[in-house]
Amino acid sequence: MNESLGHLLLVDDDPHQLKLMKLILEDHGYAVHTARDGQEALEVIPLNPPDGVISDVLMPRLDGYQLCHSLRQDIHFSHLPIVLLSSAYTEPEDIELAKTFGANALLTRTSDASNLAGRALEMLKMALLPETKRKWSPRTYESRLARQLELQVKAVQEGARKMTQLEEQLRHSQKLESIGQITAGVAHELNNPLGAILGFTQCLLDDPQATDIVDVLNAIQGEGLRCRTLIQDMLTFARKPALQTAWERLPQLADSILGLIAARAKTMKVAIEKKYDENLPPALVMGNQIQQVLINLCNNALDAMPKGGTLCMTIGLSGSHFILRVSDTGEGMSQERAKRVFEPFFTTKGAGKGTGLGLSLVQNIVTNHKGRVGVQSELGRGTTFEVILPRGGTCP
Ligand SMILES: Nc1ncnc2c1ncn2[C@@H]1O[C@H](COP(=O)(O)OP(=O)(O)OP(=O)(O)O)[C@@H](O)[C@H]1O
Ligand SMILES: [Mg+2]
Repeated sequence: MNESLGHLLLVDDDPHQLKLMKLILEDHGYAVHTARDGQEALEVIPLNPPDGVISDVLMPRLDGYQLCHSLRQDIHFSHLPIVLLSSAYTEPEDIELAKTFGANALLTRTSDASNLAGRALEMLKMALLPETKRKWSPRTYESRLARQLELQVKAVQEGARKMTQLEEQLRHSQKLESIGQITAGVAHELNNPLGAILGFTQCLLDDPQATDIVDVLNAIQGEGLRCRTLIQDMLTFARKPALQTAWERLPQLADSILGLIAARAKTMKVAIEKKYDENLPPALVMGNQIQQVLINLCNNALDAMPKGGTLCMTIGLSGSHFILRVSDTGEGMSQERAKRVFEPFFTTKGAGKGTGLGLSLVQNIVTNHKGRVGVQSELGRGTTFEVILPRGGTCP
């Protein structure tokens, strides 16, 4: 530490820069005070006179040049070493202008703050006042200030361009992530049939003489086949990243799902209603994935009606869009919860009961179909999930 520079004043309107430089200078053993602009600097300097000042150029209220000028007018501080820091690229005219205002040096900020602090200290130590008093003209002052601003605007624009590039990269990585999410979703779909297979097997082990052994074996076979279909679909998906669509009848897809949940609905005292528009045209979709959407919505609806109720499946056509609705008369949810249901891993179902991936998978599939999914819910009255799918052209 240089004895003659024991106490420094740092002036900057950017709190982060201020903090960083303060830490670096304190590390070098200096006592550092700070001010947020030239005006504040002028107020604190007489109260606690520093041995040197390091100040930003562009600041609200009173900029770095004006600060220099005011200090040089004051007999007590006319020899105070001052280094200005510019965030924009500095040109020889700026250095010249800084000197005419009485600054000892004008340095350009770099991303290496430690190096910048070192250079500023060096300049302060040299503390050479201009040998000859230079005159500054208000014209040069204004034009240099404008130039500094212009350079900073360019730097901001460059930053914005880089940001757009980063956003594109992010979107690309999100696309990759959605592939991962679908794989996780398929694994989640495998859980249900596997659970059933294990349950049925346990029944047989507990009571090998069960009279309905054929029924149980049929159920095990059915669930096993479901697993096989899912795995085949997963392999198909892995092989073909592009959408592989076919003309499907949505009511048929929906009926297959209602068939799957019928047994569970019955035990839960949930009635199933269907409202399908007549003469619906086929839809260009990935059938198995739409089935996954519907099974997730139906399972959630059943979960929401532990005391029974009604599940209604609606399919209609509105203009160029299909509308699929799964509504229940269950517990409903608050607005806060409704806003979060599509988040991956958001669940209210407790450990081991729900993974919270169901609806994020639904959203993923619907988005891949260039559709939309939304939710409307009222606490204590029920919930409706609505999926809107583009018709996808006219069936040949
Ligand atoms: N029909 C509904 N009625 C009330 N709440 C619902 C309904 N559907 C979804 N939710 C809420 O949204 C949350 C997230 O649903 P999501 O299907 O993503 O996961 P989950 O059902 O909890 O678990 P799983 O991964 O097994 O599907 C649920 O935990 C529940 O709180
Ligand atoms: Mg679910």
